[in-house]
Amino acid sequence: MNRPPFRDIPWARPGAIGLAPLAGYSDPPMRLLCFEYGADFAVTEMVSAEGLVRGGEATRRLLDRLPGEGPVGVQLFGADPGALAEAARIAAETGPGFIDLNFGCPVRKVIRQGAGAALMRDVGLISRIAGAVVAAVPLPVTAKIRSGWSEAEEAFIEAGRALEEAGCSAVTLHPRYRTQQFGGTADWSHLARLRAALSIPVIASGDVTDLGSYRRIIGITGCEIVMIGRGAFGRPWIFGDIREGLAGGVEPLRPLRERAAAIVRLARMERAWKGERQAVVEMRKHYRWFLRGIPGARDYRARLAGAETLGEVEAVIGELAAETE
Ligand SMILES: Cc1cc2nc3c(=O)[nH]c(=O)nc-3n(C[C@H](O)[C@H](O)[C@H](O)COP(=O)(O)O)c2cc1C
Repeated sequence: MNRPPFRDIPWARPGAIGLAPLAGYSDPPMRLLCFEYGADFAVTEMVSAEGLVRGGEATRRLLDRLPGEGPVGVQLFGADPGALAEAARIAAETGPGFIDLNFGCPVRKVIRQGAGAALMRDVGLISRIAGAVVAAVPLPVTAKIRSGWSEAEEAFIEAGRALEEAGCSAVTLHPRYRTQQFGGTADWSHLARLRAALSIPVIASGDVTDLGSYRRIIGITGCEIVMIGRGAFGRPWIFGDIREGLAGGVEPLRPLRERAAAIVRLARMERAWKGERQAVVEMRKHYRWFLRGIPGARDYRARLAGAETLGEVEAVIGELAAETE
């Protein structure tokens, strides 16, 4: 199959920083905002392979992208190699940059299906899934793993080797066990060990929130490609800021005016994407992040959470921006 060499892909070059897959967050508007602020690539929210194969409309919509987005990977989850291969074929038809396989989701609903992080206990099945997907599509296939189910069942080296052997182009490691969910700190030493064990690129994910943590993760792990998840909540500019910081400048401080404009831009894009009602509800989870560190944030957040229309949201944000000029 005519697959482009991974290291020749611009977004896969050393130094690339991407938006991690984030269920409930990494939808087209959020991704576009991150691209506008310098993300090199992004990954969709996780998409159910079975749902895609069944033809579910809501699932199918997760594959859509907005004009202006950069390279996007479609992340699939499931436990059946045949369904994942078929889902990858369906996804490939929409022209994504790559297909990413989810072997890390710790959520019970996913685990119960034997998918996500449950697969870290069955490297044989990981290998069959990756092999089936690699054979099914002419795109780079990547996989995102955790350190293992638990400390006693560490499996990232074995899983990484199986993925490389199956023909994956890169492996992302979020170095926490399933039992840790998102708590504690990511163990970056696992990334260093995996990088030493594989010849395909290892993409680092976990606890990068600014230039300092970016420099540290690169220094400790030797990984050349990094994904940022929670660090981009309320700070879509983190990608460009890190790059500017590396180039010798300092990380720019974003004035409140710019933060306010970014919330409004996201809210408007969400409205165009999902309709007003859903946009107003789904935007609520973003406010806490955008307002972090702002005096009076709690009151503004409460008012924003109570808003029923985008017009009301914009009025509150306008007030906030004016008050703190
Ligand atoms: C709200 C939320 C949703 C997430 N959804 C996904 C997902 O759909 N697929 C996935 O592989 N990882 C998912 N993750 C994990 C992140 O991609 C990332 O690996 C993890 O949060 C650690 O990186 P961070 O510290 O930069 O957030 C999610 C994390 C969070 C906080």
